[in-house]
Amino acid sequence: MSDMPVLQRVLFSQEQLAHRVAELGREISADYKGKEPLFVGILRGCIMFYADLLRNVSIDCKMDFMCLSSYCGTSSTGEVRTMLDLRESIQGRHVVIVEDIVDTGLTLDYLMQNLKNRGAASIEICCLLDKPCNRKAQVHPKYVGFTVENEFVIGYGLDYNELYRNLPYIGVFKK
Ligand code: PRP
Repeated sequence: MSDMPVLQRVLFSQEQLAHRVAELGREISADYKGKEPLFVGILRGCIMFYADLLRNVSIDCKMDFMCLSSYCGTSSTGEVRTMLDLRESIQGRHVVIVEDIVDTGLTLDYLMQNLKNRGAASIEICCLLDKPCNRKAQVHPKYVGFTVENEFVIGYGLDYNELYRNLPYIGVFKK
């Protein structure tokens, strides 16, 4: 695993990810019993987490996706763009946003404002990684897989210039 030249070190192994994601799935299933939540995955970084999380959700639920983008290389441009919107109305729905990472919080700040205006019954955030040291906007994820330090992480959906999303674990990028 650590023979990848771009990796400084592995941060979360496949086993650690699977264990924590299963815990999150169970917690959300208990919290949303009878509510038929809508899981909104934020493409593209969420893909691995979303697929594994939903396999651990044991209640009736629905799936939809948005594609937002704000990053270029290793730094946020600060401007959030909607590349793909939801297919259906979220009026009256219990929405769980599924994100790979909350960093500055600018993406989710934009998204929360955007979705609140559409009449959802409730909106919560489930992120695999939370990097609170970089916050520029106040966002409060209810479900967090792991808290990370100020390091650039890749793998399990997270990219550097669109590469390394396919790694089955999360590692620290060697700049
Ligand atoms: C990443 C990540 C989050 C966002 C978090 O998306 O998936 O959506 O950045 O950063 P923030 O808290 O500083 O806004 P990115 O724009 O890189 O697109 P991607 O999901 O296609 O990788």
